[in-house]
Amino acid sequence: MKDINASYPEEKAEMYKLLHSQMKALLEGEHDMTANLANVSALLNEVLDNINWVGFYLMKNNELILGPFQGKVACVRIAAGKGVCGTAVLENKTQLVEDVHRFPGHIACDSASNSEIVIPLRCKGKVVGVLDIDSPLIGRFDTEDVSGLEKLAGVIEEACDWMQDGK
Ligand code: SME
Repeated sequence: MKDINASYPEEKAEMYKLLHSQMKALLEGEHDMTANLANVSALLNEVLDNINWVGFYLMKNNELILGPFQGKVACVRIAAGKGVCGTAVLENKTQLVEDVHRFPGHIACDSASNSEIVIPLRCKGKVVGVLDIDSPLIGRFDTEDVSGLEKLAGVIEEACDWMQDGK
């Protein structure tokens, strides 16, 4: 595996490029969903600055259930359509939230969170989960994060076996 402690470029687009190749190397040859999502949350937690929570919620019986993450303990179940994560599922669309306190229905897991980004993960066109990242800074995420993280989501989607429980 490449050295994840390599120094990351200040410039966001460059940082995401390097992160993309590191994530590919990290997941190469491994398809176990839990192991991969655990390692991805550790990598993102290591590399992204000014974040306080990063991890996954996975779809089961039409609701999101907490998956591998780094950060404070979080709520376990989120119904489709509820909160930022459930909205990402319902709309099948990335949610970029500049100020969570202005997002109707936002679910506060860590009171330190002030902004958030949620990216849907898809398998064969169906949403199978979301990548959720919280920051203590208002407006931490921008369109460069959207494009960088959506590309990383593509790497995660490709690498994981989403049918693990025989479903
Ligand atoms: N804020 C999320 C809930 C999950 S936590 O941020 C980890 C939401 O509104 O869906």
